[in-house]
Amino acid sequence: MKTRKLLDGIYWVGAEDWDRRLFDSLIPLPDGTSYNSYVIQGQEKVALVDTVDPTKFEEFKENLRDFPVIDYLIANHLEQDHSGLIPYVLDRYPQAQLLLTPAAVDLALSHLRVEEKRIRTVADGQTLDLGGRTIRFIHFPWVHWPETMLSYLEEDRILFSCDLFGSHLASTELLVKEEERVLEPTKRYYAEIMMPFRKIIQKNLHRVENLSVDYIAPSHGPIYARPRFIIEAYRKWVDDRPENLVVIPHVTMHGSTRKMVERLVEALASRNIEVRPFNLPLTDIGSLAMSLVDAATLVVASPTILTGLHPLAAEAVFLVNALRPKARLAGFIGSYGWKSRALDQLQAMLDGVRFEFLPPVLVKGDPDQAAMEQVEGLAEMILKKHQAAGLL
Ligand code: FEO
Repeated sequence: MKTRKLLDGIYWVGAEDWDRRLFDSLIPLPDGTSYNSYVIQGQEKVALVDTVDPTKFEEFKENLRDFPVIDYLIANHLEQDHSGLIPYVLDRYPQAQLLLTPAAVDLALSHLRVEEKRIRTVADGQTLDLGGRTIRFIHFPWVHWPETMLSYLEEDRILFSCDLFGSHLASTELLVKEEERVLEPTKRYYAEIMMPFRKIIQKNLHRVENLSVDYIAPSHGPIYARPRFIIEAYRKWVDDRPENLVVIPHVTMHGSTRKMVERLVEALASRNIEVRPFNLPLTDIGSLAMSLVDAATLVVASPTILTGLHPLAAEAVFLVNALRPKARLAGFIGSYGWKSRALDQLQAMLDGVRFEFLPPVLVKGDPDQAAMEQVEGLAEMILKKHQAAGLL
């Protein structure tokens, strides 16, 4: 993509990555992604906000052709998809200073081997005068690394928010046109990247809400011309209150565990509880993560292999523990052949989330009528817990 103009003197110079399908060799990207970089021209100085992923070097190099001078390179975030071409920019513009938070210095030195003399740290609330345009730096650590900051262009009321509010969405549109279209990739992004830092965002979101903002320009996905839309979505996602929703990641080997899952889905649905089952051999873990943004209850369903969880269930449980969703109730159902320690394993793996564990339903072999009644009992218990929490 060629450069795109947001306002007079403010340009997008990033790169779309239409074909990328995996991030961190882990996260599915069904809609590709973009790496946003912005040029801000003042009457006296010019700043560049972030760079792009090194795989897009040629495109980025071409995009900077119209900008013979860059005085400041603002690095809101040091992860390589935004910082990877900082050394190139510093080389191309020998007068440019690299502006970042104190917490980012070590990362710039160790990850990018930047010369220390090119670095200038900025304090929280410090401003930078470009001549008629003023950038205020807002330290906002842990979205999602320790060094992150936001840059707020005061006169034009634009918030350059780095990964916060971003979406993995490649698009020819500079601005979000259909909010419903961007909501899912933004929620996916939140679920996969930001959810582990939910409490920190929850505590600090007012700092963004209190700003006068006409545009939020994140480092992935289109720019929000109606910022309230995405701030409100984030406010809901980070809120402690879950929805009347049960998420069931499940896997079966010979069909016994599947029978229990089917019964549980029916039993919950008949009690007016929304259920989302995820068949792990087929599912996209991003969809599972998105459902965990809202769910009140997690029920893992797994057969036992060599006395432990099925590896696909173990992977899902590992993910849940890493993402730290707001759900506080957890259950376990499954069938085993001769012996199972799967429940102990599950509970040990979920040590990062303060779950209340519901009584498990573990069945030797094919689930009989008594086992199915236990599944019904589990559904009834979940209903009572959801009712007590005022969720339905
Ligand atoms: Fe888009 Fe944390 O980098």
